[in-house]
Amino acid sequence: MGKKKKSKKKSKASKADRYALYLHSVQAPSYDVKFFRRVYKSYFDEKPKILREDFCGTAAVCCHWVKGRPDCFGYGVDLDPEPLFWGEEHNLKALKAADRARVHFIQGDVRTAVTPKADVVAAQNFSYCTFKTRDALREYFRAALSQLADRGVLVLDLFGGYESIEDNREDVVEYDEFDYVWEQAKFDPITHDSEFHIHFRFADGSELQRAFSYHWRLWTIPEVRELLLEAGFDRADVYWEGTDEDGDGDGVFRRQEQGESDPAWNAYVIGIKGPAKG
Ligand SMILES: C[S@@+](CC[C@H](N)C(=O)[O-])C[C@H]1O[C@@H](n2cnc3c(N)ncnc32)[C@H](O)[C@@H]1O
Repeated sequence: MGKKKKSKKKSKASKADRYALYLHSVQAPSYDVKFFRRVYKSYFDEKPKILREDFCGTAAVCCHWVKGRPDCFGYGVDLDPEPLFWGEEHNLKALKAADRARVHFIQGDVRTAVTPKADVVAAQNFSYCTFKTRDALREYFRAALSQLADRGVLVLDLFGGYESIEDNREDVVEYDEFDYVWEQAKFDPITHDSEFHIHFRFADGSELQRAFSYHWRLWTIPEVRELLLEAGFDRADVYWEGTDEDGDGDGVFRRQEQGESDPAWNAYVIGIKGPAKG
């Protein structure tokens, strides 16, 4: 009896590109950019031109920001050279040369990196939750304020609800080529320290485990608003998601002063600098 030959075929997980999977499953740059433009225009009645994307990772959002818009500029700031390099190779190179020239990547700390004064500073996918004390978060908000033009907005996203603080919970979203898995590993009710992981699973049974891990303080909306005002922002507004006829989120965020209890919500908190309307 002949020996069974070992398959030399590599698993899908071993060939996977975690940044490409993340972009496909987590990010929606065209949605983000539309939202930022709508929010800025609603306060200042004009089009924003300069975006600073803090914690930019692969800078997908600032690359999208400049696409086909000769008067728009994007500045992406991240500490880690690896996603920045990926972003240069994929997101930046995908742009036309004229657009590409208006995007700048800065490897640095969002608290100290200096860029031209921006109309919009965006800190997406909860990245600012890396700052775990009021002093540290206020310090970041002060830095963001100093990098905004006289009229500008800081756009922060946030999530919450009782489902988001369950330990050992997995939420799976199926895509054609892979499953995206959001794992809530741990939540500490005393400190709000939280641990989350992203895994990618493939049809051949392989898995890219802990492709990304996050250790955050899960802040609440009132805390974030209060800290924005303490840092010197003129206003801090909340954009809450509407619901469709089944009661699910409809992807449309509107300014609200009161929300409804929800087991798993996403929202935006906007810090406003300057004389805004409304
Ligand atoms: C959750 S990822 C966000 C990626 C992207 N912004 C998004 O929306 O999906 C967090 C990123 O923040 C970066 N980061 C963490 N602390 C930072 C700091 N103090 N200054 C700059 N970047 C930081 C990490 O290197 C990482 O790329």
